[in-house]
Amino acid sequence: MKHLLKLSDWSAQEITDLLDMADQLKYEKKNNIPHKHLEGKSLGMIFEKSSTRTRVSFEVGMYELGGNALFLSSNDLQIGRGEPVEDTARVLSRYLDGIMIRTFEQKEVEDLAKYGSIPIINGLTDYCHPCQVLADLMTIREHKGTFKNLKMCFIGDGNNMSNSLMVGAIKMGMEFAIACPETHKPDAELMTWAAENGTFTCTDSVKEAAKDADILVTDVWASMGQEGEANERKQIFAGYQINSELMAVAKSDAMVLHCLPAHRGEEITAEVFEAHADEIFDEAENRLHAQKAVLVTLMKD
Ligand code: CP
Ligand code: NVA
Repeated sequence: MKHLLKLSDWSAQEITDLLDMADQLKYEKKNNIPHKHLEGKSLGMIFEKSSTRTRVSFEVGMYELGGNALFLSSNDLQIGRGEPVEDTARVLSRYLDGIMIRTFEQKEVEDLAKYGSIPIINGLTDYCHPCQVLADLMTIREHKGTFKNLKMCFIGDGNNMSNSLMVGAIKMGMEFAIACPETHKPDAELMTWAAENGTFTCTDSVKEAAKDADILVTDVWASMGQEGEANERKQIFAGYQINSELMAVAKSDAMVLHCLPAHRGEEITAEVFEAHADEIFDEAENRLHAQKAVLVTLMKD
């Protein structure tokens, strides 16, 4: 049984195949070519955190593939009242053909896969955000034509996004540099893996990370679940911002990505955001196509 629990579980070839399918599905949608690969299939979508893009892209994606999606808020599920994941997994496996879950702990996603008998898709945990990064890779290839000889830099928190971007970039053969405070580095094991498998730098200097970069990426300073630390984080991350001064050290044709939602004036200036809005909203659109490719890859008979 194939799952999407984290990007590090997938090979470079599997990621490439998925991106090729996402391109094909995008082409088919734009040209009104039917692609109902999941007729009669149902996806459960468990949300323990808020979402705009993930919810809508998976729900519309299932509809466009001929299937059905159920929005399952943890406020309403018995899981929110303490029903064990191992029981929830076994029950939902009897009704559904796949589950997408957004939650806090990576272990909950891994446990759903362990106890259930249907494909599980990670729609974001505190550890990683593989679905977003598949859309990011799709957008980079669309705009740059290749991953060869590209440098991606991430500015900000060593969080779920930077963990997945690091894995995705290195697997696709890109150089990856992150600028973050010493106290907020990405996952240590993933950094070791990145250093052993590609060109990887972790620095506290934004200019060093962004130097000659082809792709600059950032994310919020306080992620979902860290709202109570927001003020403290504003102090810690001050300076970890994509602005025009930083863009000046990157390549002149560098692109900017942001998974959204964005906080203008914090991790990115309004000026840079608007100058790169085409890339950022292509990235948001590509969530739909990439997520459809994930659904077909995991759920098609
Ligand atoms: N980028 C992303 O995952 O957005 P949502 O939180 O709106 O799903
Ligand atoms: N790091 C952010 C990503 C949101 C899509 C969060 O976890 O809130």
